[in-house]
Formats: sequence, C-alpha cells, structure tokens
Amino acid sequence: MKNVVVLGMGYVGLPLLLALVKSKKRVFGYDIKSSLIDLLNQGECHLNLWQERFSKEITPGENTFFVSNLKSIGKIDIAIICVPTPLNINGDPDHSFVETAVQSLSELDIEPSLIILESTVAPGYTRAIAEKCFSSRLSIHEGSVHFCFSPEREDPGNKNYSNVEIPKILSGLSAKCLNLGAELYMSVFNHVIKASSLEAAELCKLHENTFRAVNISYANQMRNYSTHLGVNFDEVISLAKSKPFGFMAFNSGIGVGGHCIPVDPHFLLSEAHKSGIEMPIVEKAMMEIENGPRKTFDWLVKKGILGKDVLLTGIAYKDGVSDIRCSPAIELFILLKKKCNVHFWDNKVSQIEIDGNAFISVSDDFFKGFHGVVIVINDTGKRFVDDSKLSASLVLDPRYRITL
Ligand SMILES: NC(=O)c1ccc[n+]([C@@H]2O[C@H](COP(=O)([O-])OP(=O)(O)OC[C@H]3O[C@@H](n4cnc5c(N)ncnc54)[C@H](O)[C@@H]3O)[C@@H](O)[C@H]2O)c1
Repeated sequence: MKNVVVLGMGYVGLPLLLALVKSKKRVFGYDIKSSLIDLLNQGECHLNLWQERFSKEITPGENTFFVSNLKSIGKIDIAIICVPTPLNINGDPDHSFVETAVQSLSELDIEPSLIILESTVAPGYTRAIAEKCFSSRLSIHEGSVHFCFSPEREDPGNKNYSNVEIPKILSGLSAKCLNLGAELYMSVFNHVIKASSLEAAELCKLHENTFRAVNISYANQMRNYSTHLGVNFDEVISLAKSKPFGFMAFNSGIGVGGHCIPVDPHFLLSEAHKSGIEMPIVEKAMMEIENGPRKTFDWLVKKGILGKDVLLTGIAYKDGVSDIRCSPAIELFILLKKKCNVHFWDNKVSQIEIDGNAFISVSDDFFKGFHGVVIVINDTGKRFVDDSKLSASLVLDPRYRITL
C-alpha cells in the first residue's frame, strides 16, 4: 500500500485528507504546528466546518496518521502540498511556506515519486521551485521525482458542492507526471481535467479568483449608484439573474476576506508587472475592495453613529464560515472601536482578539434586546432583521441589500 502525505492541515489540506481516506492508500497528515497535530491525534478537529465528518470518518492511528515530523513516516510515495501562500508586509506574494515544504521533501532520504502542489502560486512558480529543490532528480532529467500542480478550488461553507464533486484541474511537469497525478486524482475526484502545462493551471486559478474580485468591485459600484437612484440593488440583481445566459450574479459587500480573493489577484499583478504588462482594471478593483471597510465606516459616520452603542452582525469573512482571516468586518470593527461602544454577534465565531484584547460574541438574547445601532454585515444577521422584532434604535445595511 502506498503512503500519501498531505502537508498542511488547514482549510484546504484537511478536506483533501478526508477525500483521500477513501482511496486505498495509507494516509498521513503533516503540519509544522505540533499542537495542531496533537489535537488531530486526539480525534479533535480545529475547523468547525469539518468537525462532524472528521469524527465520523477519521480514526487517528487506524485509517489516518497525523505527524509533526515527515521523517517519521518512512518512505513517502506521494506528497500533496497545501500550505499557505499569503502576501508579505509589502503586499507581494509570499511563497516561503511552499518553498520550505518542497525543501523538506527534497531533504528526505528517499524522495517521494510524486509531488502535487495545491497551494495558489504565481505563474511559473511550480516549475521554478521543482527545478530549484530537485534539479537532476526530476523525472524530466532522468530522475525519479514527478511534479504536478493542481489548484485547490475549495469553497468553505458551500453546501452545494463537496471537494470531490468540483472538477479538478491537474497539470504536470511532463506528460508522465500528469498521468501519474491523474492516476491518483481519478481515484479521489469525480472529474479530472488535464491542463496542457503547469502555467495554464496556475493561471486558471488566478483567473478564477481575479474574475470574482473584479466583479465584486463592479457590484459595489453598481450598488452605490442604484442606492443613489433609490433603487434596491438586491432587486436589480434578481431581475438580471432571470436572463438565462450571459449574466452571473455577484453580491456587493463591505469588502472581501479569507485566503483567496483579497490575495490571489496580487499574485497575478505581481508577475504581470515583472513582464511589463499592466492590468489597470484589476488594480482599480483591488483598490476599491481594499478601501471597502474605510468607506463603510465613513458612510456609517454620516448616518450619525459616532459615540453610539453599535452591534455588528457577522464578523467572519463571509456567511456560514468561522474563518476570520482578512475579514473586512474585523477591519470595520477596529475602526468603530475607536469611535463607538462596539460589540459583535456571529453564530460561528465565539471570540476574536484585537491588540491582545478578547471580544466575545454577544448572545441571541442580547441581540434582540439591543437598543443601539445594528449593522448587518452578512446574511446570518439578516435572519434577525427578517424574523424577529429587534429593539435596536437603528438598523443599517452597508450593502444596502435589505429594504429597511
Ligand atoms: N482557504 C480556502 O478557501 C482556499 C481555497 C482555495 C485555495 N486555497 C489556497 O490553498 C493554500 C492553503 O490555504 P489554507 O486556507 O488551507 O491555509 P491554512 O492557513 O488554513 O492552512 C495551512 C496549514 O499549513 C501549515 N504549514 C505551514 N507551513 C508548512 C510546512 N512547511 N509543512 C507543513 N505544514 C505547513 C500551517 O501550520 C497551517 O496549518 C493557499 O495557497 C491558499 O491560497 C485556499
């Protein structure tokens, strides 16, 4: 039986591991955070979204093995890399986690015969890092290591598609690499689509997410204009959606968060700029999106909320998830905290930490009896506005999606 290890037990690696457990392989989960590995070994899952499936489908030490030392696995046949690719403090792509992961595989006594990179990277990066860390040991140079890139398309909280149902794009350093990767992924995913090159697959991922960013930014601008005209933008979207072709709905918001949409367009822009290619539409869209929390704050100030008791409904970066990474609601919370007495409510996030201070989500009862200003950030908060009689003196929807 082959040994397959997933590097990185986060939002992408953990669901992939759950999918792999059903393949006939010995499955290992590896993470540099040893406290996380200890937790997983105790049968506990750190990601709310996956807790239920984890406890049903994973028996640590029997069908899955969690390790904080790659060498403890012995011979690794297949390694799949799902580590973070954030932006650095200058706003440029930070590939250092991927580099460390590939490096750690290259330092094993026996290198894996197949390595698949799932993390989002800049175009050309997979080829470059494979050459840098393995050079003559790559199969294209008569070595034994085969390299693939397969962009993760996980959409946390989306109940319509599980990761095995989402068509899986796969590319390889050579046709042989691609075929080896496809052999594994066809036993895990329902549809595998082979890309002709690593770069086509890398660009596909960046195109998907940049497309979302640009359209969200456009939706925000349309929301502003339709509100100016006194038209509810939600209705405009619903009407446009009735067209069976040529239109795709994007909702406006106060900004974007998570690990993909605020980040991936910068991977595209950074590489394009190096080649002297300008992408002003993408640049403007990102600027508009990044200014979202500040513009929302300014709008709220105009509505007269300074010094008031304020409650934000929803602090996660989108509906239905507990992920607060890059959440625009947190940015707004920080801005409001300086000027108002601010609280938050989120049925998926119990606590946030800002500058070393903990803030706890208020209870449903507190919410209903709240007398100050309620700011509806996401659809979970909308539930209260729709279903219950709030005591709030004012309810504001910065996305203008609720007729109040
Ligand atoms: N979260 C999403 O919805 C999503 C969707 C599609 C693609 N992606 C991409 O997938 C990649 C992973 O994202 P994520 O959200 O799962 O990140 P995450 O932060 O949730 O998890 C990454 C994990 O990798 C671990 N790690 C870091 N360096 C490591 C190393 N050298 N070896 C082993 N483990 C290491 C971290 O400790 C962490 O637990 C990123 O490139 C991201 O852009 C994310």
